[in-house]
This record gives sequence, structure tokens and C-alpha cells, in this order.
Amino acid sequence: MKHCIESQQFDRATITTLFKTADRLARTRSTPLKGAVMASLFYEPSTRTRFSFESAMLRLGGSVISTENASEFSSAAKGETLEDSIKVISHYADIIVLRHPEAGASARAASVSSVPVINAGDGIGQHPTQALLDLYTIHRELGKIDGIHIALVGDLKHGRTVRSLAYLLGKYKRITIHFVAPKALQIAPDILAYLERHDVSYACHRTWDDILPCIDVLYQTRIQKERFASAAQYRTFKGVYVVSPEIVARMKKGAIVMHPLPRVDEIVPEVDALASAAYFRQAGYGVAARMALLVHMLAR
Ligand code: NCD
Repeated sequence: MKHCIESQQFDRATITTLFKTADRLARTRSTPLKGAVMASLFYEPSTRTRFSFESAMLRLGGSVISTENASEFSSAAKGETLEDSIKVISHYADIIVLRHPEAGASARAASVSSVPVINAGDGIGQHPTQALLDLYTIHRELGKIDGIHIALVGDLKHGRTVRSLAYLLGKYKRITIHFVAPKALQIAPDILAYLERHDVSYACHRTWDDILPCIDVLYQTRIQKERFASAAQYRTFKGVYVVSPEIVARMKKGAIVMHPLPRVDEIVPEVDALASAAYFRQAGYGVAARMALLVHMLAR
């Protein structure tokens, strides 16, 4: 794999290898990327993605050069194109981790980069490494991926993590995906068409009432405030689905609650203490998953 741009490019065998590497790297310390340099180039806010990538690279013995606010603190502020910035940074780093507000920006970057590019979120496009760590979380928490029933909840129209996760789940057997969203924020038709082509069962819902007792994973997401045309429009949807201890009590025993984070108000803090609250552990699994990906893409 030269670049990591979208979830569809992973096959099951690669994911299995990555998870084995992640399991090993989570247990043992080794520095296979000593001497390698990773550039993290972030044009949109991030806490987990950037820090976990940087932590992963440092733990593997590599080094990091970084800008957390590339639109203001890089030459983009002077009018440099993304393409020109990438051509230059290709000389300074062995791999580039890019977050950008425009869907398709990572593919554009990859087309001019002489080093591997990792998509760390491109607008409402995709976030494939989040999907990888989400799947790794399911593997670690439930011990299986085949056969699970999962509800993807919230802003499915603008949420890039659910798009990438749906694509990745499409690689597994006997998966059922429930898309729970207000009509205006439902998942885009390209994802549904993909799931149909891959024989994945799915259903779209306006409420979660009927499905709570039968799901293994409730994947909650944030209403993506920054993607709405106006604050008034955002307020229409804010708070539409809120996970509370009462909601968790309606889920089956052993089911987990996930969230890519950050959360705003869609999971009340009282849920955090419940065993089924997997979202902070999920953020932690991100380091091992990203270590495995960096090794896979860089180690020779
Ligand atoms: C997500 C993102 O940036 O898409 N965050 C993350 O990477 N963990 C989710 C979000 O912003 O809601």
C-alpha cells in the first residue's frame, strides 16, 4: 500500500495482518522506524488523530515534524496550493499525515507526493485510519467482527468516520448495519449502493427504539456543527440522540458504546463509568492501530 486514502483499499488479509501487528506492538516495545520522519499537516482541528499518530511514530523510534494549524501557520496563509506544499514536504519527510477540510484533498496530495500520504480526514469524505481503529476496537472488545449488528447513529451525512467504517465493515461476513439519523442527516446513497454490492444487510431508521436490544455496538457520533450552513440549522439537530444510562440499560448484555470523539452532548458523562462505555479505550487503541499502519507503510 503506497498511500492510505480510503477504506475501500484495505482487504481483509491486510486488516488481519495490521491487527496482529497492533496486538504485538501494544505489548512490546520496538523501534523499527528509527531514523524515519513523519510530517503531520493538519488544516482542521484535531486532538486524538494528530496526537495518536505522533505518539505512534515516536514510540516506533521515528521523529515528527508537525503543524496543527496549517491554514494559518503554513505557507497556505500566503496562498500556496496544497499541491505545492506537499511537493516540498515530500523532501522533508518519509510519510505525510494530512487532515484537510476538502473531500478529495488527500487523493490530490497523493497524486503529487513522492512519499506515502495518509488521509487523516478530508472534509466530509473519509477518515480511513479512524475506521481501522474502530474496527480494531470491536476486535479487541468483542473478540469478533463477523456477524455483528452495529448501529451508526447521529450525523451520518457529514460524519466521515461512519462513511469509512461502513466501507470497512463491508469486508466482513454476516454484518448488519442500522443507520439511525434524522432524514436530512442520513447516510449518503453511495455507501448504501456499496453495501448492496457487497451483500451487507442494512436498514435506515429515524429512532433507535426498536433496535437497541439487538445490537452489539452502538456507534454514536457528533452532529458536525462546522458542516452546517447556519447555527440555526445546526440547532435543529443538536441533541437529537443522547446516550444515557437508561439507553444503555436497553442494550443487550456485553454490548458496547463507541464514539470517535470529541463528544459534545450526545453521550451524558454518567455513561462513562459503565463497563459498556468503550469510547475512551477506543481512543487508546488508536495508538497501536496507527503504529501498525505506519510500520506496514514504512518498514522494509
Ligand atoms: C472525528 C473526525 O475528525 O472526523 N474525530 C476523530 O478523528 N476522532 C469525529 C468528529 O470530529 O466528530
